[in-house]
Amino acid sequence: MTTSKINMNNLENVRESLNSKSLKVCIIGIGRIGLPTALSFAKSGLKTIGVDINENLIKTINSGNFPLEDEPGYDVIFDEVIKDELFSVTTKIEDAVPESDLIVLSLPTPMDKNNIPDYSALRNVAIQLSTLLSPNSLVIVESTIEPGFIEDEMISLISKSGRLKIEDNFSIGVCPENANPGEILHDFTNLPRLVGGINQNITKIITMIYKYVFSVDLIEMENCKTANAVKLTTNVFRDINIAFVNELSIMFEKLGIDTMKVLEAAKAKYNFQVHYPGAGVGGPCLPINSYQLLNTARRTGVKLTIIESGRMINETMPDHVIRLTLDAFNECKKSIDKSKILIMGISYKPNVKDIQLSPAKDIIKKFQNLGSLVHIYDPFFHSTEIFGLKTENNFENILSEMDAVVIVTGHDEFKNIEINSFSKIKSKILIDSRGIIDPISIKNKNLIFRGLGRGNI
Ligand SMILES: NC(=O)c1ccc[n+]([C@@H]2O[C@H](COP(=O)([O-])OP(=O)(O)OC[C@H]3O[C@@H](n4cnc5c(N)ncnc54)[C@H](O)[C@@H]3O)[C@@H](O)[C@H]2O)c1
Repeated sequence: MTTSKINMNNLENVRESLNSKSLKVCIIGIGRIGLPTALSFAKSGLKTIGVDINENLIKTINSGNFPLEDEPGYDVIFDEVIKDELFSVTTKIEDAVPESDLIVLSLPTPMDKNNIPDYSALRNVAIQLSTLLSPNSLVIVESTIEPGFIEDEMISLISKSGRLKIEDNFSIGVCPENANPGEILHDFTNLPRLVGGINQNITKIITMIYKYVFSVDLIEMENCKTANAVKLTTNVFRDINIAFVNELSIMFEKLGIDTMKVLEAAKAKYNFQVHYPGAGVGGPCLPINSYQLLNTARRTGVKLTIIESGRMINETMPDHVIRLTLDAFNECKKSIDKSKILIMGISYKPNVKDIQLSPAKDIIKKFQNLGSLVHIYDPFFHSTEIFGLKTENNFENILSEMDAVVIVTGHDEFKNIEINSFSKIKSKILIDSRGIIDPISIKNKNLIFRGLGRGNI
């Protein structure tokens, strides 16, 4: 077994290893968050190795291709750290871990089809670490986990082989990731990070390492579970507030009130934090984070009714998009059966190439169940197949064949579309579920318009 050169439990040893750039880093899971994290560690001058089970990803990186085209800035860093031989990747965890002092886990924490959080990647890797970790190493979990997961599961899994004893010859802490896909470089270098260690010494050591790599403020929490609780609280706060405006927006439609105008004015109140209504809340974070807290509630025998209701509201927003569309078809006395519908935007949020838990999937299925022939266009997906449909490379060319256009993602590109272009839609139906088309701008355009939450048309 390779013995770790650096005692990661000793603040002065770690400080010295940062100054001499001798600290060796291994990032396990180099996806959306893990790859930029690994590149940042490498850019700071520390030799960094990325481990991933995705062989295609490793091949892509090894051929010098940066896989995250929608993460500005990291493409340049990628070329730089590869040229400087500070960054390498492998599928072989058994080669990377024993040679490393610091192990950062950026593994996926999805949920299953019953909305139960799935921590199998973290559990599997923890068991591997129990035989591979060099003594005196430090493990940092960046993945989003429930409060208590480190204390109740990770430590005993890593200790399983009997070689390692927490606080004796290995340490662990968390630094939950809170970057926004599409702006990770900006967020990594600007947003404060949460830190929680197995003890105060480890918290200080993690703070020192992250300050060295990212130069951001670190918020030190008393332990791992409190840091994870903060991460979930901030994201679930958003899920609930979006549900709140979603529910209001449906009522405002009936009252002839434009929700966007309400929110614009409400923002003037000093303690109002604006959230916007839409077709649903997707992505790798918000929906899962709510279910993670609901899972914690189940374990602890508590009922979190607001989170439960919020999820239900957000998950039924695709139905509301369908209702708006059916209403428009009724107005022009056309049947939706055998109609042609163009979905604009399939990403779960604007300006990213990411369809994880995107409400677009549900909306497409519902239209297909009503007999519609669905086409999809998204500027981030060209010449490919998504949700069983071939993506269109150009939307303007096919508008004249479409009965309806339904905007599902508020990509910036859509905000710049000249409103007259939509007049080419065959049956003139335009549905905006993201508040990007000003209802005033479509007046006298001969369009049958429905805007989610917009009642004054
Ligand atoms: N994407 C985001 O916006 C975001 C933001 C903040 C926090 N997070 C959290 O960060 C964590 C990672 O998320 P992500 O979006 O980067 O996920 P991702 O799916 O993009 O990346 C995870 C990577 O881990 C790899 N992997 C899976 N099992 C593995 C194993 N056993 N060994 C080695 N590699 C393995 C996968 O192949 C993948 O490349 C999650 O907990 C997520 O909740 C994500």
